[in-house]
Amino acid sequence: MALRTAVAGGRRRLAALACALACAAPAAAFESPEELPDGEGRDDTFYFCSACHSFTVVARQGMSRALWDDTLTWMSERHGMLELEGEERRLILDYLAATYPPKAASGWVNPFAPRN
Ligand code: HEC
Repeated sequence: MALRTAVAGGRRRLAALACALACAAPAAAFESPEELPDGEGRDDTFYFCSACHSFTVVARQGMSRALWDDTLTWMSERHGMLELEGEERRLILDYLAATYPPKAASGWVNPFAPRN
């Protein structure tokens, strides 16, 4: 019993250490919109998309505007995301397309981004 507690404690400390290392890396986790590149629609995009999952899921992608558009549709149809329409959809799409364009075209690949 005491041993199990000690092991669990050790694991927790290890997890904390792993986080201290990984979480300090730039863009490892997003907790507020200020951590994203500035641009019109940034705050809306951050809060809208991080309601269900970490924004990291979004930021590690790089897509054309058309594919981002498909992604929004997919989020709504498959995952029940509130449908984005009109001005708000335009705003969020503009931000996503400008900030996370297809990776080959952006010329810079985040070395920490998970590869699919
Ligand atoms: C209502 C909940 C919800 C909202 C809001 C939401 N998503 Fe998602 N999203 C999900 C779920 C659930 C998954 C993981 C499921 C999967 O991969 O099939 C996911 C996965 C993703 C992925 C990962 C695809 C991959 O290949 O790893 C991307 C990109 C994405 N969402 C983009 C967005 C964007 C952009 C927004 C904001 C406009 C958004 N999501 C808002 C539920 C949501």
